[in-house]
Amino acid sequence: MNNFSDRLLTWFDTSGRKDLPWQQQTTPYHVWLSEIMLQQTQVATVIPYYLRFIQQFPDITALANASVDDVLALWTGLGYYARARNLYKTAVIVTESHQGNMPSNIDDLVALPGIGRSTAGAIMALAYHQRSPILDGNVKRVLTRYAAIEGWPGSKIVETKLWNFAEQLLPQHRFADYIQAQMDLGATLCTRSKPNCSACPVNHDCQAFTQGNPKKYPTPKPKKTNPTRQSHWIVAQSSNGELLLEQRDNRGIWGGLWSFPETKTIGELDDYCKLNIHFSTNTIQPLATIKHVFSHFKLNIHPHLINCTCNLDHIADNNKLKWVKIDEALQLGLPAPVKLLIQSL
Ligand code: ADE
Repeated sequence: MNNFSDRLLTWFDTSGRKDLPWQQQTTPYHVWLSEIMLQQTQVATVIPYYLRFIQQFPDITALANASVDDVLALWTGLGYYARARNLYKTAVIVTESHQGNMPSNIDDLVALPGIGRSTAGAIMALAYHQRSPILDGNVKRVLTRYAAIEGWPGSKIVETKLWNFAEQLLPQHRFADYIQAQMDLGATLCTRSKPNCSACPVNHDCQAFTQGNPKKYPTPKPKKTNPTRQSHWIVAQSSNGELLLEQRDNRGIWGGLWSFPETKTIGELDDYCKLNIHFSTNTIQPLATIKHVFSHFKLNIHPHLINCTCNLDHIADNNKLKWVKIDEALQLGLPAPVKLLIQSL
């Protein structure tokens, strides 16, 4: 019993799941409905929704004759509501254009709203008993570990490799059991964070197990490098030591806090000062750049110290802008780098 599918099927006979509600009636309708509900949702969560759904809509005609609001009402709490809207659209299309019969080939299935290649593969195997691979999250994890396939499975190149591999591993018989066995292996033994390799029927030629680190696979999605933005701060200080602060808009970063007036580029500094504060920037002293990291971007802050001898009343008509003494400023709501800079002055 050397090959992957034989070992998996033997394991399935003793350890696979056989009494899930959608395994009781494996019509294309029941398989399709359960596969859609099981996308991004755990089995235990799906079960009561599935049971209520098939009670209210026992077949695809009943579903097509409902209204989308009835369908959404039954879906409430399950999340990802586009699934429910697509389910309903597909029921209407199948009723109007396929005489109420779910198509029995991959191309027609994937043309329906909400049905991707893996869901189509599951319908083909589980409902029509055809030799058809699937590649959902569980199967991606099983296969990337079994063959130590590097690279994020969401990338086109790795996904293509995995589809080819899934196809190669297919048995010549028991297509439905085999697909269910792959899902069950992924859900019960080859789990994301606690793989139970000692109980796995394919452990002795699993490359990730041999390497001793199954959790290395699948390779996680590469993190996007966060962009870096620039901000030029006008640190205007009057001859009696007051600082010019501006209350930030409630939207955006540091919403509602008091900060130094800022511009995006150094070129805008002068104009900003003339327009809003009525002084020109003839004595600018650049201070050290401050690097601040937000969850989705980095901010390089370039403070420019400007010693003003201007008439303090000459600020623009703007109640968000005010001159404050340093000790008063430190009582205001300030972003951390503003507070640090003020303390350093
Ligand atoms: N996840 C996706 N399809 C499934 C199925 N048929 N049984 C259990 N979990 C699943």
